[in-house]
Amino acid sequence: MAIPGKVLLTEKEIKKKVRDLAKKVSFDYKREEVIMVGVLKGAFVFLSDLMRVVKFPVKVDFMAVKSYRGTETTGKAKILLDLREEIKGKNVLIVEDIVDTGITLNTVKKILEKRRPKTLKICALLDKRGRRREKVKLDYVGITIPNKYVVGYGLDFEDKYRNLPYVALLKDG
Ligand code: IMP
Ligand code: MG
Repeated sequence: MAIPGKVLLTEKEIKKKVRDLAKKVSFDYKREEVIMVGVLKGAFVFLSDLMRVVKFPVKVDFMAVKSYRGTETTGKAKILLDLREEIKGKNVLIVEDIVDTGITLNTVKKILEKRRPKTLKICALLDKRGRRREKVKLDYVGITIPNKYVVGYGLDFEDKYRNLPYVALLKDG
């Protein structure tokens, strides 16, 4: 059985990262309205903290995507839940908990680009750069982490541990 082990990011460290990211995005968007698009399920915790410390007017929407990795060399992802908001001509910030192979974000970005938003950027809390299979431009990144499976702060293992207020490595228990 896998359980949370060593803490990689404490609650305090996460809070600081979120505040730093909020400062950067707030500076860039000035006072313009932004639609934050959370990628479910993992991003909802990060998004809810981030949206409360930015300085611009925010609208929130969500997408859910399933990515298939299997044996294919190029990954594919399928939309399970689409936006409710029209994003044409709007500032859109995709909010993601963690970037791993990059397949999920690339898929979401391509889909949203076609809808002609005014701007389209990505903000990810965690970056597992060592596992990237598809190049994806991250406009804002909280922290780069080692190539290990992590849980907590929205991130799950078999849909559990999302509620932990910190990020921990998964270990055998
Ligand atoms: P990607 O498409 O490979 O970049 O996968 C990104 C998605 O995989 C994230 O949105 C997470 O839901 C999930 N994921 C990747 N690495 C981890 C991890 O270490 N812990 C929990 N979920 C992860
Ligand atoms: Mg996710």
